[in-house]
Amino acid sequence: MDFIYNLVVILHFIGLASLVGGFIVQMSSPTKGVNAAMFHGALTQLVTGVILVGLAESGTVDEEIDTTKIAVKLVIVLVVTALAFIGRKKTPPQVALWAAIGALSIANIFIAVLWN
Ligand code: HEM
Repeated sequence: MDFIYNLVVILHFIGLASLVGGFIVQMSSPTKGVNAAMFHGALTQLVTGVILVGLAESGTVDEEIDTTKIAVKLVIVLVVTALAFIGRKKTPPQVALWAAIGALSIANIFIAVLWN
């Protein structure tokens, strides 16, 4: 089961790359908005994160979950996903939505890595 857990961690990193990459690639664009990479990356983070928690809590892998940290990450990703859902059909520029999604996603990286 460790192998499956590690595969899902890899998918979690691919979702992160898609979400933050979709944000960064528009940094110097005059028509910043929510692109497909950001929307699908947000969904990937939500789904893979929940699977990781499920696997860790199942007791079949040797992973400890900090429930407070995960709860904070979950709330942030729910906001990110809602903003991406709202913004994906809107005509760019949607600078406020783009900036909020990027800032919250990067905040989640800080929380994931620095919160011990
Ligand atoms: C924008 C959203 C997210 C980002 C950018 C993100 C980022 C990360 C990163 C960088 C790691 C590796 C941390 C390390 O190994 O030191 C990680 C691990 C993990 N993430 Fe996320 N994550 C997000 C959303 C979520 C959500 C919503 C959940 C659960 C509901 C979740 C659950 C986990 C778990 C269980 C791990 C492995 C255990 C740990 O190191 O805490 N993540 N995440």
